[in-house]
Amino acid sequence: MSKILITSALPYVNGVPHLGHLVGCLLPSDVYARYNRMLGNEVLYICGTDEHGTPSEVGAAKEGMDISEYCTKYHNRHKEAYQAFNLSFDFFGRTSSPQNEELTHHIFELLDKNGYIEEKSIKQIFSIDDNRFLPDRYVTGTCPHCGYDKARGDQCENCTRVLDPTELINPRSTISGSSNLEVRETRHLFLNLPKLEKRLSEWVRSKEPFWPDVAYSIAQKWLKEGLQERCITRDLKWGFSVNKPGYEDKVFYVWFDAPIGYIGITKQWADEKPAERDWKSWWLDAKDVRYVEFMGKDNVPFHAITFPATLLGTGENWTFVDYLKGMSFLTYEGGKFSKSEKRGVFAEDAVKEFPADYWRYWLMANAPEGSDSAFGFDLFAAVVNKDLNGVLGNFVSRVLKMTSSKIGAEVPAGGEQTATEKELIALLQTKVSDYFKYMNEMEFRKALNELRGIWVEGNNYISAAEPWTVIKTDPERAAAILRTCINLIRIFAILSAPIMPATAESMLARLGLKMSDIPSLKDFNVAEEIEAVKPGQPFTVGEALFERITPEKVEELKQKYGSGK
Ligand code: 2FM
Ligand code: ZN
Repeated sequence: MSKILITSALPYVNGVPHLGHLVGCLLPSDVYARYNRMLGNEVLYICGTDEHGTPSEVGAAKEGMDISEYCTKYHNRHKEAYQAFNLSFDFFGRTSSPQNEELTHHIFELLDKNGYIEEKSIKQIFSIDDNRFLPDRYVTGTCPHCGYDKARGDQCENCTRVLDPTELINPRSTISGSSNLEVRETRHLFLNLPKLEKRLSEWVRSKEPFWPDVAYSIAQKWLKEGLQERCITRDLKWGFSVNKPGYEDKVFYVWFDAPIGYIGITKQWADEKPAERDWKSWWLDAKDVRYVEFMGKDNVPFHAITFPATLLGTGENWTFVDYLKGMSFLTYEGGKFSKSEKRGVFAEDAVKEFPADYWRYWLMANAPEGSDSAFGFDLFAAVVNKDLNGVLGNFVSRVLKMTSSKIGAEVPAGGEQTATEKELIALLQTKVSDYFKYMNEMEFRKALNELRGIWVEGNNYISAAEPWTVIKTDPERAAAILRTCINLIRIFAILSAPIMPATAESMLARLGLKMSDIPSLKDFNVAEEIEAVKPGQPFTVGEALFERITPEKVEELKQKYGSGK
């Protein structure tokens, strides 16, 4: 059994998550965590809300709330939305926790002691109309590298380059839109990345065979361009205090304490049951932990460069990322998701329209791996109707209804496997191996393609074997066919469980089974699994697994959630 630590990027607490956030890290990490648990691995799956920074301050001010109450309110909203999507975190914590503060102070103290912290005076943008410094995202302007005119002060989302707000051309306040800005000088603390560059570059090189292209190439690009010192403090009230004399009026930059948040959240989890859980066995001097991180591609520089450099600078033996799955973006009906413009489907509304599994399947089948992908209600309905309703749902109801009406509501006895079943077993074993291979490689679109192919083989088998005709002349043979089909339902449920956990449970329940009855996926042998449900086992037909989405419903959804740009 291997120990696998899985983290999903920590969503900013302000604002509510939409389908793009779900597919950008939350869902793929959940599928991978579920799959690994089913393989029998020891999984720790961690996520939580990223709570510091100007966006939270601005959000709380807008709602006239105390900032920590505001964060609690939105933390709970995130948590509820993720529960509704069946995300199986071992713990969903918060970066503002005391555990994270203690770790942030500890890590900073070591960096300072080891000579990786510099003090410098910097020029910052002050907004006269807003009467405040404007850090990071609160300055918008034109990117000096690629010319994108909506670049944020901390990063250009078009070319992914990390920026300093003063570098922007034609800057304006994101809060008020005012361009009545001036540059003021204040003292700040910097992480000396150039001093860590050599060790970091050796570490990145050691990861080459394991990292997917997108993460490795971003890390290489950064190292090639040469690392700059990064400011890790901010002139804000909301954030962790800086444990260094002279910095009492500043806080740590949100991107300094957010990645440490993965460790802080693990400590939150461990502190709930200290007798059973040990955060260090995952993070510090940890043995045999494979660490897999999921995130949007815009987060990759922080996790391929700044966070590993931070950990290296402590001189302690932290767990470093082994595999970094960077996802591209999802577009909505040809444009961008936007809460303020009421365009796009947000997680909490999505589950009111359709069960979570419809979304989970569609999003994973169309995951933006490699390049961006597009969500549209037409595309969504087509996949739900064809793959889920037409292929999987239809197979399950056809088999159970036919068996129940022609033979009875028990798995039929009689008949033996023939060459047809042996061929089916061989075919499925190959497809199952490919499915597992892609799941292991986190190639989710390819994995779902195999899964769909496995369901299709069930339909091909029953169509060719024609139990409804055979039963008239050879009831023994018809019993063997239908028993095989009922076992296929169990196999399809097991294989679909990481992606559609509720559907898998519903399929198994019809056969009187539960997920806890399912053996490990390790050495999954179709020849054995196809005989697992024995003759005489009672079953129920149940309701249809999925409902078709009509063209009228598609139009209604487009109206409701906005279409196009
Ligand atoms: O991009 C984001 O949504 C950030 N809140 C991700 C932080 S991930 C980690 F570093 F904490
Ligand atoms: Zn740019």
